[in-house]
Amino acid sequence: MSDIRTLPGFREFYPEDRAVLGHIMNVWRQSCRRYGFREWESPVLEPLELFTEKSGEEIVRQLFNFEDKGGRQVSLRPEMTPSLARMVGAKANGIPKPIRWFAIGENFRYEKPQKGRLRSFYQLNADLLGEAGPAADAEIMALCADCLLGFGLTQKDFRIRISDRTLWFRYLASLGIPESHAAAVLSVVDKLERGTPSDLLTAMTAALTGTNVDAAHALQAARTFAGTNSLEGLTQLAAGDEAMQNRLQDWKHLLHTLHALGFAECLTIDLTIVRGLAYYTGFVFEAFETGGEARALAGGGRYDTLVKKMHGPDLPAVGFGMGDVTVRDLLEAKQLIPAYADGPDFFVMILGEDARTAALNDIASLRHAGFRVEYNFHDGKFPKLIHAAEVAGARYALIYGGSEVAKGVTKVRSLTDRSEAEVPRTDIIPALRAVLAEGMRAVLP
Ligand code: HAM
Repeated sequence: MSDIRTLPGFREFYPEDRAVLGHIMNVWRQSCRRYGFREWESPVLEPLELFTEKSGEEIVRQLFNFEDKGGRQVSLRPEMTPSLARMVGAKANGIPKPIRWFAIGENFRYEKPQKGRLRSFYQLNADLLGEAGPAADAEIMALCADCLLGFGLTQKDFRIRISDRTLWFRYLASLGIPESHAAAVLSVVDKLERGTPSDLLTAMTAALTGTNVDAAHALQAARTFAGTNSLEGLTQLAAGDEAMQNRLQDWKHLLHTLHALGFAECLTIDLTIVRGLAYYTGFVFEAFETGGEARALAGGGRYDTLVKKMHGPDLPAVGFGMGDVTVRDLLEAKQLIPAYADGPDFFVMILGEDARTAALNDIASLRHAGFRVEYNFHDGKFPKLIHAAEVAGARYALIYGGSEVAKGVTKVRSLTDRSEAEVPRTDIIPALRAVLAEGMRAVLP
């Protein structure tokens, strides 16, 4: 058979790597639970139209879609938000509000694999539904920050850049840009940081086709607005526009709540963020490593119309997604990945077949008591078994030879300092529990 490799952008996780992924998922889960969020899950394979209709162009180009054997058009999920909107929409009346839900799942996007971007990745989703005011946006941004702080990062290590599609829409309206053209203009705004001046002007001209707004003027105004990074600056731009001034009250509420919750240091106002997904309607945000050019750690925002579009009730919603790939890169760079002791608590060394039955009896009791235990399948000499215990990564060996069994004891040996002590087999479970808690001094004479 030829050498069959994994597909580009897909990862295999050997146990050391899977332990790191497990750590990331544990921190996410603990953070979400601290905010009272409950876990949900949905299918990884969905009808294609769930995403073609709900996710927006950029993601649709990246779908892993195909026809199944029953002739259905299906796709692996590129994100979980449309499935969430469908689930909540179907049962919304029976679920107490506000709804605080999180999920951790594998998502698939046919992107060009590169640093921070793969074709399969794990993503935390946390969403709060049923509350329209900025308190909910603040709660979601606070949780996003806490999901990063839970790894031992500090508020100096990342920035949550906050922006607002509502404010953008109102600003574009004040320039005379009709609502029907606003989404196209925002996709030009999305490219402001990367595009050349002439490409941007061409794109803006195309976006404004059918209006009598001057593209060069609109581009300049968009740059000024996108470059405003303080509430005072926004207040100046909003002078004379009542709709914008009203919206700035929501901004004050949002920032005040986040400051009172203790997150002042990791927040910035950044109106260059507009987000590629089609369903966002209000505040949007992305989290980035401070100073780094790296890809986003997390992204989210408010999507007040999606549940209704999924045939549910009118239910306001806000949430975010955080991926494992960029988070892991950052934790590695900051040396914040804990060293996991994956090995057993005890390696039982059976020296001689006469001792095997007694050893197996104790192994079964120890495993039932919750200890992690391995043992040698084949008889071997002492040095070989000590080596096997070390290779397994055990902290302690338990020695079962003919003389120990005859005396009714087992010998506990520390694999770090080689100290040894005998423990009566009748007392083995409490004695070994004490060894794990306090070390060898719990049993040394
Ligand atoms: P998103 O910005 O497309 O939003 O993805 C959120 C995060 O998932 C990104 O910031 C990144 O960490 C990670 N991610 C996305 N694509 C990839 C990839 N190809 N490789 C590695 N990591 C990736 C959403 O998915 C929204 N559904 C989030 C949301 C939930 N909005 C409201 N609720």
